[in-house]
Amino acid sequence: MTSSLPPEQRSASAGTAAAGTPSGGAPGSASPEQVHSPRKVRVHHLRQAKERGEPLTMLTAYDAVTARIFDEAGIDILLVGDSIGDNMHAHATTIPVTVDDMIPAVRAVARTARRALVVADLPFGSYEASPAQCHASAVRMLKEAGAHAVKFEGGEHLAEHVRLLTRSGIPVVGHLGFTPQAENILGGKRVQGRGHEAADRLVADALALADAGAIAVVLEMVPGPVAARVTEVLPIPTIGIGAGPEVDGQVLVWTDMAGMSSWSPRFARRFGEVGAELAAATRAYASAVRDRSFPAAEHVYES
Ligand code: KIV
Repeated sequence: MTSSLPPEQRSASAGTAAAGTPSGGAPGSASPEQVHSPRKVRVHHLRQAKERGEPLTMLTAYDAVTARIFDEAGIDILLVGDSIGDNMHAHATTIPVTVDDMIPAVRAVARTARRALVVADLPFGSYEASPAQCHASAVRMLKEAGAHAVKFEGGEHLAEHVRLLTRSGIPVVGHLGFTPQAENILGGKRVQGRGHEAADRLVADALALADAGAIAVVLEMVPGPVAARVTEVLPIPTIGIGAGPEVDGQVLVWTDMAGMSSWSPRFARRFGEVGAELAAATRAYASAVRDRSFPAAEHVYES
C-alpha cells in the first residue's frame, strides 16, 4: 500500500511501483517511500489510515486502461465519479449522468482493480427521493458492476439513506462542501462553508453522516481551516479536493491530475502533461502513416 495499510499487510517484496503520497496530506508521518502492497484495501483500512495519520490517495477512473495504471501505482481508492459526465461524455455538468451510464464504467474499473477500493458515485436523481431509491441504485452498483462502496452528495438530510445502506452491507462515502449535482441551487461552482454558520452546518452534516455509518467524507471546495476542523472532529477520514492539506486524504479528477486539458481548476496540480504527450504520439503516428514509414518490415507477418 502506498501509505495506509497496516504494517502486517505491507509487502516489502511487491515488485510494483512505490507510489507517492498525495499532495498535501493529513498531519502525521507517512513516508512517500512506503512500498506498494498487492493486498486489497478494505473499509477498515481507511479508519486505520486516519488513526495513523497516513494520507489516503484517491483518483477518479472511468475505464480499465486508467484503472490498471492507477491501481498498479498504488492509489488506495478509485472513484468512478459522476464527473464521467463532464470529463468523458461531453456533458457540461454531471447532472445528465444516469445509473445506466455509470454501470459499464464501474464494471470496467472494478474488474481491473486488484488492490484499490472501488467507489461508485450515485448520479443525480438516483438516490435523493428516499432511502429505498438510494438502496436500489446502490445495489445495482454492487451487484451489476462490482463496486465496493458508493458515494453520494448531501448532509444530515441523507443520514437515513446512509443508515439503510450501511445496515444492508453497502459502505457509503459522503460528499460535502461544493456538491456538483447541486450547482444550480448553489449558484455555480463556489467555495462552501465560509462564515461561522456555514462552517457549523458543514461540521454538523459531516458528524451526521459519520454517525449514520459513512466510511469517509469527501470535502470539495471548502476553506482549509474549515476542512481541518471537520477532520479533527470526525472519527472517519476526510478526503479533500480543494480543501487544503489538513485532511486525511486527497482526491483529484485524473484528467486534472495528469494534465489532459489546457485548463485545470485552481485547487488541482498538474502532475504530468499526459495530454501533450498523447497529442505528440498521435501526430507522430499520423505522420508515419502518411510517409509510409509505418508499418515497417518488423510489423509485417510473413506468409
Ligand atoms: O465525480 C467526481 O469526480 C467527484 C470528485 C470531484 C470527488 O465526486
